[in-house]
Amino acid sequence: MKSQEIRTKFLEFYKSKQHEIVPSAPMVLKNDPTLMFTNSGMAPFKEYFLGNATPKSTRISDSQKCLRVSGKHNDLEEVGYDTYHHTMFEMLGNWSFGDYFKKEAIAWAWELLTEVYKIPKDILYVTVFEGDEKDGTKMDQEAYDIWKEYISEDRILMGNKKDNFWEMGDQGPCGPCSEIHVDIRSEEEKNKVDGKSLVNEDHPQVVEIWNLVFMQFNRKANGSLEELPAKHIDTGMGFERLCMVLQGVQSNYDTDVFTPLIREIETITGIEYGKDEKIDIAIRVIADHVRAVSFAIADGQLPSNNGAGYVIRRILRRAIRYGFTFLNKKEPFIYKLAETLSHQMGDAFPEIRKQDTLVHNVIKEEEQSFLRTLDQGLLLLDKVIEGTKGKEVSGKKAFELYDTYGFPLDLTQLIAREKGYEINEEEFKAGMKAQKDRSRAASASETGDWVVLIEDETEEFVGYDALQVDVKLTRYRKVTTKKDGDQYQLVFNMTPFYPEGGGQVGDKGYLETSNGDIIYILDTKKENNVIIHFAKNLPKNLNETFKAVVNDEFRNLSASNHTATHLLHQALRTILGTHVEQKGSLVSPDYLRFDFSHFSKVDKDQLAEIEEFVNARIRENLPLEEKRNIPMQQAIDEGAIALFGEKYGDSVRAIRFGQSMELCGGTHVQQTGDIWYFKIKSEGAVAAGIRRIEAITNVAVGEYFENVERNFSEVKALLKNPKDVAKSVSSLQDENAALKKQIEQLLKDKAKNMKGDLKNQITEINGVNFLATKVDLDQGSIKNIMFELGGEVDNLFVLFATAPSNEKAMLTCYISKDLANEKGYDAGKVVRELGKLIHGGGGGQNFFATAGGKNPGGIPKALERAKDYIV
Ligand code: ALA
Repeated sequence: MKSQEIRTKFLEFYKSKQHEIVPSAPMVLKNDPTLMFTNSGMAPFKEYFLGNATPKSTRISDSQKCLRVSGKHNDLEEVGYDTYHHTMFEMLGNWSFGDYFKKEAIAWAWELLTEVYKIPKDILYVTVFEGDEKDGTKMDQEAYDIWKEYISEDRILMGNKKDNFWEMGDQGPCGPCSEIHVDIRSEEEKNKVDGKSLVNEDHPQVVEIWNLVFMQFNRKANGSLEELPAKHIDTGMGFERLCMVLQGVQSNYDTDVFTPLIREIETITGIEYGKDEKIDIAIRVIADHVRAVSFAIADGQLPSNNGAGYVIRRILRRAIRYGFTFLNKKEPFIYKLAETLSHQMGDAFPEIRKQDTLVHNVIKEEEQSFLRTLDQGLLLLDKVIEGTKGKEVSGKKAFELYDTYGFPLDLTQLIAREKGYEINEEEFKAGMKAQKDRSRAASASETGDWVVLIEDETEEFVGYDALQVDVKLTRYRKVTTKKDGDQYQLVFNMTPFYPEGGGQVGDKGYLETSNGDIIYILDTKKENNVIIHFAKNLPKNLNETFKAVVNDEFRNLSASNHTATHLLHQALRTILGTHVEQKGSLVSPDYLRFDFSHFSKVDKDQLAEIEEFVNARIRENLPLEEKRNIPMQQAIDEGAIALFGEKYGDSVRAIRFGQSMELCGGTHVQQTGDIWYFKIKSEGAVAAGIRRIEAITNVAVGEYFENVERNFSEVKALLKNPKDVAKSVSSLQDENAALKKQIEQLLKDKAKNMKGDLKNQITEINGVNFLATKVDLDQGSIKNIMFELGGEVDNLFVLFATAPSNEKAMLTCYISKDLANEKGYDAGKVVRELGKLIHGGGGGQNFFATAGGKNPGGIPKALERAKDYIV
């Protein structure tokens, strides 16, 4: 059965069980402060489990793109070495939100596996939670009894908390789970070792394929568990592993999910898969990682130096260095796989097809730049090895290479070994540990439990219509971080504060208590569908009604920049073309930043045209036409632009200003005239095929023009208020150039005259023709005079000092080559030592050297001491 069909059969099966089939949410999460990537099928539904939102259906099913490379679930280092772990994988899942529970979840899983997919029952094992004394949880008898109806009891195994209790994070919904394992070993192997003993033992052919989680608890901050009011089902089946079982192969990489990529790697490198384990690992790493990186880029996450972008960069770099080291690929090649992936997965995940050019370009550029880094690292490593006494290279140095050049230890070891050296691994590990400890300490935070003041109040956002309302505090918690110290997170029954999202920063403002006390709201964010307000302290009386006031200037300026962002987007698509897609945006009160796909620099004329397009829309004073809670399809049919990689609900908000229409949750001006003016400040590249425009609107433009005007007036005044300033600057420049020429000539003449004077001052000491004196000449003339005198006078030793300013002194020394080469005179030594008197240093050759310093006061002494060098 082809993978495509396996996926479809899963979804059809749950559809027949009244599940609503939904598309995969993005793999990269943009507005979730608790999670960077979707790390399991349930992550997009967290808010439903937490009771912060209501799903449109109590039964949902999908195939979700997941990435497990950071945080609690992290498989990165294992990937490639075995045949069944991945960075990105698809998780097939079915969910019940307070609907069916264990009975149906188990019955359907069994029906699907054994009757639809026809997996023989005698290769399956299931596990049941054995209970945990510390948590006070009991053995999951209910699940055991249900399983008994389907599978013989000797195939039901007990599992501990590590394997059979699933938690999505340190806090939140969790519960016992039952895993389904499959034993795909040969009969011969099975006769040798009982499959039962291999369950959960990391055997590549006895693997877990499905996890059925029975969500019935909530883990609190203090670690204790409480029963959830409504019970839920969360299941996750590893799609690639299921394909392995159904396609009768022994490795996920032998399924048609991976073989097209592996064949392409073989074609590009000319190296065959399946002949040498080290090479195979590298090929698996690349085939796996290119999927993770490509889908992340298609979801709008570019590789970068921090956050989610850094994780993506590290995954790609891991693939590059495996190619570099084991496949001998010193040129970019991974980007070529983007096309294969787009063919293969484009039907199930259209985003990968739509974005394939971008994926191709971004990966290629990353490869080029990391390969350059590897080259630099190699040079450095050579130097380190050169300076190594003995045969052991310092682990500290190896760590530095890793830390600053991303040069991994295994690569350093490999190269060192080729040259007969070993790396001190202990030292390397110590460096690594110290770094981890430092970053852990820096990001350490403690989050308290929610203190609930009012139950069951759903929080309403009223900030589109009001900037000031009376609110009640429904819950709060304390959060302590190294960066901000103690802070409180407050939740209200309703709020006018816009939470950070869609690129727009969160609102600021204050709460006013009945006796006039002010509690400042420092920021507003959304977490699992709850709007959280950050404050330094709590109100004294928690139960009263507060006046919640948004800082209106902050909000209005953000709104101005947000609407301008939509107009800019429209301008770019109109002027540059519809290939332009938003790739990132920041909307703050001070400025806006807009990243978009476009293949070349936007030139000056285009920028002027874009600016004018936006300003024309501003002058038209287009009114805001807002549609709230309309069906997604309706909005799209009406022409609204949806962003790739953005998670939208079923009902959306559409914002229209004239011909610009976007799905957007942000805040906007009432009419475009409120923006006042739009001014582009910069345009540049962010990554291959991605440009960035930064711009300002409103009062920031006023300030900008005032500044420009002030500077201009100052310049004009300095020029004595000419009519044509540019002309007057240009004639000044001409005059300046002419004067420079004259000065050069004058200096030359002066030097000629001075040479005669200086020659007359030379005196003979011990057969050396000596002169040490202060001169008023530029360095070029000094050098010329010295060399000319050297040609005319034998055995010459001259030291000239100059003081170009009160804080600058120079010494220049010339010594005839005969004296220098035969008698051991050294001009370099003279200026180095005498340079100290002018608080400076310098050097040069033995016949000519200069020193610069900061102390002209030292010149007389330096000149006096010069004759001490005559021997
Ligand atoms: N959420 C469960 C898991 O990821 C199904 O294993």
